[in-house]
Amino acid sequence: MTERLPVILDVDTGIDDALALLYACASPELELIAVTCVAGNVSLAQVARNTLGVLELAGRADVPVAVALGADRPLVKPLRTTEETHGPHGIGHAALPATGQREVASVGAAQLIVDVARRRPGEVQLITLGPMTNLAAALDLEPRLPSLLRGWTFMGGAFRVPGNTTPTSEWNVFVDPDAAKACLAVWAASVGADPGTRLPLGMGLDVTESARVMPADVARLTRRAGAAEEDAAALADPSTLMQSGGSVAASPALRFVVDSLRFYFEFHAQYDGFYGAFIHDPFTLAATLDPSLVRCEPVFVDVEVGPGLAHGMTVADWRGITGRAPNIAVATSGDAATFLDRLIDRIGGLAGVSGS
Ligand code: BDR
Ligand code: CA
Repeated sequence: MTERLPVILDVDTGIDDALALLYACASPELELIAVTCVAGNVSLAQVARNTLGVLELAGRADVPVAVALGADRPLVKPLRTTEETHGPHGIGHAALPATGQREVASVGAAQLIVDVARRRPGEVQLITLGPMTNLAAALDLEPRLPSLLRGWTFMGGAFRVPGNTTPTSEWNVFVDPDAAKACLAVWAASVGADPGTRLPLGMGLDVTESARVMPADVARLTRRAGAAEEDAAALADPSTLMQSGGSVAASPALRFVVDSLRFYFEFHAQYDGFYGAFIHDPFTLAATLDPSLVRCEPVFVDVEVGPGLAHGMTVADWRGITGRAPNIAVATSGDAATFLDRLIDRIGGLAGVSGS
């Protein structure tokens, strides 16, 4: 087997974070070392419960993944959560199993990121799928982190497209723009000083919104899991959703996928005009594991942290007007079809194995 990529996932679990965790657990080319939790979609305590529950669901009790608690609020702003997007507990209409043996680590998220990076210099990929508060704290503890990590991928920003939280701002950056600004500044300084430091891969809405998971995709995933199509019927018909008792699948992982996505589909039907969902976080993970899924352009980006309409905006200098060196490899297009096929194959396969 080829060498696996050691990964730390930083999450604010959330429906699409949960799918990213399942995708990670189903990916043979990835070594999941640690999952660090940050407040964002829901409170930190709920993020931790969801994260432990999803790992349990994935049937990977054997894997020694450390789960650590991080920031319970942004650096400067008060915390805003988004239960309307992800459901009252962050997992839509789904329920999670009681968590098993795994407990949260005694060390905090920022320290854990630093410890892992120091232990395996140049090897570990950090992937942040929520507000960047934990990474900002880790960079405070260890400013050499960009040189110590193999690289950093983040889901965040809207570089040439409108925001999804304000007209100009994407959710992860909006929740903690001060952290995003700080992380980009430290990374840029390191890229300038150490030729070994790679530009971070920025997966913003420009690309993540090119992939929509639709009811037909969940039907395919259900078949891949070896289950009957009725198991996904809970989300097939938007008009009967709220009366439905949820998926009847024998596999707890499949029930989770169907019932969490059902809520996400309802949210997108209300706010984005289609009964399906963008699944930002697994696309971000998939593009890290297989860079051929995206095309990137290096560009200088800064984050607006002041008040007003541009608060939380990722301002990209596409014309090089500032003369500043690029500090992000921004994903500008992606192969959504291949990503969706892979998601269905991997999570469907995992749901089949960890089922009944
Ligand atoms: C991001 O915001 C969150 O709600 C999602 O989990 C994703 O990380 C998309 O803007
Ligand atoms: Ca997220």
